[in-house]
Amino acid sequence: MRIGVDYYPEAWDRSLWEKDADLMQQTGVEIVRLAEFAWCRLEPKDGEFAFEWLDEVIDILTKRGMKVVLCTPTNCPPLWFYEKHPDSVQTEKDGRKTRKGIRGHRCINNADFLRYAERIIDFMTKRYADNKSVVAWQIDNELEANFCFCDTCIGKYRVWLKSKYSTVEAVNKAYGNVMWSGEYSSWKQIEPPFGSYPDPWLNPSYMLDFNRYASDSVVEHINWQADLIRKNIPDAKITTNVWFCTNMPNFYDEFRGLDFISYDNYPTTRLPDNPEECYTHAFHLDLMRGVKRDKFWIMEELSGGLGCWAPMGRTTSPGMIKGYSLQAFAHGADTVVHFRWRNAAGGAEMHWHGLIDHSNVPGRRFAEFADLCKDAKALKAVCNTEIKSDVAILYSPEDEYAFKIQPQTNGMYYMEQPMLLHSAFTKYGLNVDIIDQRADFSGYRIIAAPQMYLTNADVVRRLYEFTENGGTVIITNRSGVKDEFNKCIMQQLPTAYRSLIGAYVEEYDPIGWDEARLKLADGSVYKCRRWCDVLHTETAEVIAEYDSEFYKGKPAITRNTYGNGTAYYIGTITEKSLYNRLVRDILTQADMPFVDGLPDNVEITTRTGNGTQARFIFNNTNKEQHFSIGSEDITLAPFEMKIDIS
Ligand code: GLA
Ligand code: ZN
Repeated sequence: MRIGVDYYPEAWDRSLWEKDADLMQQTGVEIVRLAEFAWCRLEPKDGEFAFEWLDEVIDILTKRGMKVVLCTPTNCPPLWFYEKHPDSVQTEKDGRKTRKGIRGHRCINNADFLRYAERIIDFMTKRYADNKSVVAWQIDNELEANFCFCDTCIGKYRVWLKSKYSTVEAVNKAYGNVMWSGEYSSWKQIEPPFGSYPDPWLNPSYMLDFNRYASDSVVEHINWQADLIRKNIPDAKITTNVWFCTNMPNFYDEFRGLDFISYDNYPTTRLPDNPEECYTHAFHLDLMRGVKRDKFWIMEELSGGLGCWAPMGRTTSPGMIKGYSLQAFAHGADTVVHFRWRNAAGGAEMHWHGLIDHSNVPGRRFAEFADLCKDAKALKAVCNTEIKSDVAILYSPEDEYAFKIQPQTNGMYYMEQPMLLHSAFTKYGLNVDIIDQRADFSGYRIIAAPQMYLTNADVVRRLYEFTENGGTVIITNRSGVKDEFNKCIMQQLPTAYRSLIGAYVEEYDPIGWDEARLKLADGSVYKCRRWCDVLHTETAEVIAEYDSEFYKGKPAITRNTYGNGTAYYIGTITEKSLYNRLVRDILTQADMPFVDGLPDNVEITTRTGNGTQARFIFNNTNKEQHFSIGSEDITLAPFEMKIDIS
């Protein structure tokens, strides 16, 4: 495992560079990320490059045995550039230009921006092409899907639509535009979602396509940058860093043309009191690994209390800095780069805490980081191992867009059910992959397919095939609801999945903030929230029936034998403890080994390969935990990770 830091030499006095690098070296830092926001110092005047300071920093780090990740500085063009090319600023939804002086406000399709970006990327990549210290390149910083509403972007959006549909008639048909007299008669009438209307007022088919275009647009830009880097450095290792932002690009598309994933990992420093709330970051880590089904990097890792876009949050409790980094490693991140070396002394982010506080006196958090660096060395041997999983959960960025466009009912959000299922499987010590619906299903024994909202015939076919061949599949409410254009399918739900689950939905009740109840055969009762599908079984058997409302006695959860396999259907959202119980039964039924008796939020992950097996047991809680695995008694301090390598 390799530990790094995000460092901003452009913001520190020159006299600090060597001192910082000495301390990095002593501490065991192996990699340093540089320059993602440094454009104004790299090109202080139009066409006048000033890279000497960056050469010097790289040299200082190299002399101390450290490697470097360089970033294309395209997130923040200098203000002299905007002065010359005012149109290159993004246009907001209300048609106004974004305010300058913050970051990420350039239009990624603007010709002037692209010309200047190309020139600096070309200069930078030529300069460092042969520098052996530069081991990877990061494109820009946390690029979001392109929600710019300028004329150039509108033009691009129309080109995207034309290439997908060829004619406006085809768009009208796909979107069902006859409603509210929304039929287009020319391409010019098609505009992005300007204005202050709440998104759910707009046609969901149109909105889904706009989200798809916005993602494709940023992916095109990312690939354009990757090509520029590869032109001068053919074997460059290229990434871009992502997080779960408001306008998320489709991660699967985003990384297809890049060499590795990097994720910015900021687990909460304040754990929720409500045990029903999902907070485990293992879910996001597994999702990131699943994007390429490969190891990944954390490009920014939690190092202290947060506080720049919001009031300051609680500081990291003892154990978090080390524990969350090791948790990332346990889930497949081989390099973990901490954000940031030292708190910024100036700028909007000065209250976002890094490893060292403004005083520049290394304290408790730094000591914990230093300890992590020591432990990381011992894990080198484990880097060549893999995380093999029998269980996969399907995650679809498009279903998530569709849920955001049309919130299903009060409190319901796309990620909740995948997270509940993930937390149930991890409670029994299983490795879990979170993968694309379009990924290969072979090799898995269980596939959880929650909320298969938009219907893709090929995905449906492969889920039937998987089950028929002996797999276990878990389908949930809000499946088979829409076609690929986000229009409702005129069949009883869950439409395409009806024969697979051996049941259909007679009607549904979006209970939102209200509560209903369900009952299992042994009489135990659990709460239902958000949604209740009232089921009618055909070939399925009933596992749970409702115990309240006018549908009391009707099926809520079912199980169906299909071919050599089994299909479960969960028609509601229920308590964590019931997901756990269901998953335990599913594992028993499928004859799969599992670890019993782990306390909530204690996670086991295993990495295997090359004759090595490593078992990670992480206490993702702020309390000491005692438990037994077989004859082994284990005690873990808050956020402690126990690692056994054999
Ligand atoms: C993101 C960004 C960083 C920084 C941190 C903390 O992850 O990539 O530049 O802004 O958030 O605010
Ligand atoms: Zn634009």
